[in-house]
Amino acid sequence: MRLKNKVAVITGAGGGIGRAAALLFAKEGARVVVVDNNIQKGEETVSRIIKSKGDAIFFPADISKSDDVKKIFKVTVEKYGGLHILYNNAGVFLLGVDGMVTEITEESWDKIININLKGTFLCCKYGIPEIIKSGGGSVINTSSSAGIIGVPECDAYTASKGAIISLTRSMAVEYACKKVRINCIVPTAIATPMLDQSSRNNPKFDEQKFLSITPTRRYGKPEEIANMALFLASDESSYAVGGIFVVDGGVTIRTIG
Ligand SMILES: NC(=O)c1ccc[n+]([C@@H]2O[C@H](COP(=O)([O-])OP(=O)(O)OC[C@H]3O[C@@H](n4cnc5c(N)ncnc54)[C@H](O)[C@@H]3O)[C@@H](O)[C@H]2O)c1
Repeated sequence: MRLKNKVAVITGAGGGIGRAAALLFAKEGARVVVVDNNIQKGEETVSRIIKSKGDAIFFPADISKSDDVKKIFKVTVEKYGGLHILYNNAGVFLLGVDGMVTEITEESWDKIININLKGTFLCCKYGIPEIIKSGGGSVINTSSSAGIIGVPECDAYTASKGAIISLTRSMAVEYACKKVRINCIVPTAIATPMLDQSSRNNPKFDEQKFLSITPTRRYGKPEEIANMALFLASDESSYAVGGIFVVDGGVTIRTIG
């Protein structure tokens, strides 16, 4: 088992990629704290883990709220005695709310930045000290192709995901000597509820055209991101520090090249 005796917090683990990671981490021996602001979805993830004889608890929290985030780590340490892995996966892509800078409201801008970027900041702020106290571990942040090449008419999402890459790099340098490795995954076009919301439900999105110019000719599966997260969570990635791991079926290379 690749995560035996490790304790992991995974945010947004009631949904697509986060749920796949929670199931995989638990299968690999981790004790998992499933965090989500959707109670029904979070509880469903935990009940699936328990059915498969894994160990997990659900903690309902909104990662943009510091009081909620402080409690995530308090409960984690009380229940499991420490923390080794923090997977900052929760995020939102709000089609029709996000937009171009000249169109988007300040309220919408704040909402997206507060969940995606401030949520990552808060979880690092309160989670990293617990990882250090537990002797070290791994933080995995989540960007997007938007953070590398941008997504038109989604300026808040793009800015939040670009900032997560920059934040990963500065934090990685700061905490490596304290045995906390910090890396970032850049997923793209993964078949989850977010993909439906961001692309498939967008009348301007031409799915056939997108897939025809995607090198793999298909969407990714949540498990294909969870596998990268497992590598970064485990000791197998012991020399990976500040890495930006693009897992996108070649989408961003195609766009640039
Ligand atoms: N699916 C893709 O193609 C894709 C592409 C690039 C990046 N990403 C990123 O991957 C991550 C996971 O995406 P997904 O596709 O699994 O999304 P998803 O919408 O399927 O799942 C996200 C989960 O996060 C939870 N969540 C949302 N806001 C929250 C908050 N404030 N506090 C706590 N939980 C909250 C949701 O309830 C949901 O369960 C996101 O950060 C997303 O931006 C996804």
